[in-house]
Amino acid sequence: MPTIQAAITAVYGWTPDYVLTNAELENMVDTNDEWIRTRTGIHERRILKGEGLGTSEIGFHAVTGLLEKRGIDASEIDLLICATTTPDMQFPATANIISDRVGAVNAFSYDINAACSGFLFALETGSRFIQSGAYKKVVVVGADKMSSIIDYTDRATCIIFGDGGGAVLLEPSEDELGVQDSSLYTDGSGKVYLHQKAGGSVKPATAETVAAGEHFVFQDGRPVFKAAVKGMTSAINNVLEKNQLKVEDIDWLIPHQANIRILNSVASMIGIPEKNVVVNIHRYGNTTSGTIPLCLWEWEGKFKKGDKIILTAFGGGFTWGAIYLTWAY
Ligand code: COA
Repeated sequence: MPTIQAAITAVYGWTPDYVLTNAELENMVDTNDEWIRTRTGIHERRILKGEGLGTSEIGFHAVTGLLEKRGIDASEIDLLICATTTPDMQFPATANIISDRVGAVNAFSYDINAACSGFLFALETGSRFIQSGAYKKVVVVGADKMSSIIDYTDRATCIIFGDGGGAVLLEPSEDELGVQDSSLYTDGSGKVYLHQKAGGSVKPATAETVAAGEHFVFQDGRPVFKAAVKGMTSAINNVLEKNQLKVEDIDWLIPHQANIRILNSVASMIGIPEKNVVVNIHRYGNTTSGTIPLCLWEWEGKFKKGDKIILTAFGGGFTWGAIYLTWAY
């Protein structure tokens, strides 16, 4: 029996309207536009404002747009996976809330939390459901409202993150295009460098934890930076080697948008020209699970059927990896 491949057959992205510029951040913390641009590559990021709006709002718009674009009804979705680190609430899963809002009445749904590698982990999972032959339409969402866990008095983190995300539809490929292979990794010892101290079962929320700002992202940037460069580079090399590919064979490298210096280091270590690397960090910052689907959405018009694409990410956990896919339309 021939292997079934999971192809991305549609992509859609969504970002909130509010633009948080470096100039505005200059009024909030001791920083400046020049430092932020040169050290991170970020010029602005989007922020989801409005009472009662969480990550599901981003997912809702992304999935609604996706279905309209593909011309299918929400009732046709078999499974909806949402990669997020900022769920609407501890439970139920944000995926369930999105499914309910879009009317995916025949889908089961759940969240995956792998921080900035969330979209890769969810894409791998979703593609395996398609490969099994039992599922025909799987939606993978990557979305985060990072502003909900950022301390806007901490200049080490507030300059980096933004809100946004996107969704892809996976369907069985008719011509073996789609997700081909992956190399995914985790190392829980990386927790010390990037985590949220309180609000989980180890340290539930109290008035004291809130007053101490322990529900915000804690990050020791330098070790994360080094581990990100090393992790993404080795994952890409691994996936290239496994598939007997040379870097010249790759049409597009789509890295998680963490920091322009991380992206440039990875690209130069791999030896891929700048023109083949997808970068939009200047406009959105780091939207965690949202960066890769936002890149796919923005670059979709440039992809050609059969293009060889490598997605790569690194994030809290630590989590990291690379996925090799061929573009299906
Ligand atoms: N504005 C101005 N100055 C700042 C600043 C800011 N927002 N943040 C730090 N600085 C200062 C520091 O105080 C330090 O000053 P000093 O030399 O006088 O001590 C100097 O800039 C360098 O600080 P450092 O922390 O070494 O900066 P960096 O070059 O490592 O950049 C990060 C900081 C966070 C941008 C960078 O480490 C990074 O991007 N790390 C990876 C983050 C990431 O991608 N995380 C998501 C998961 S992938």
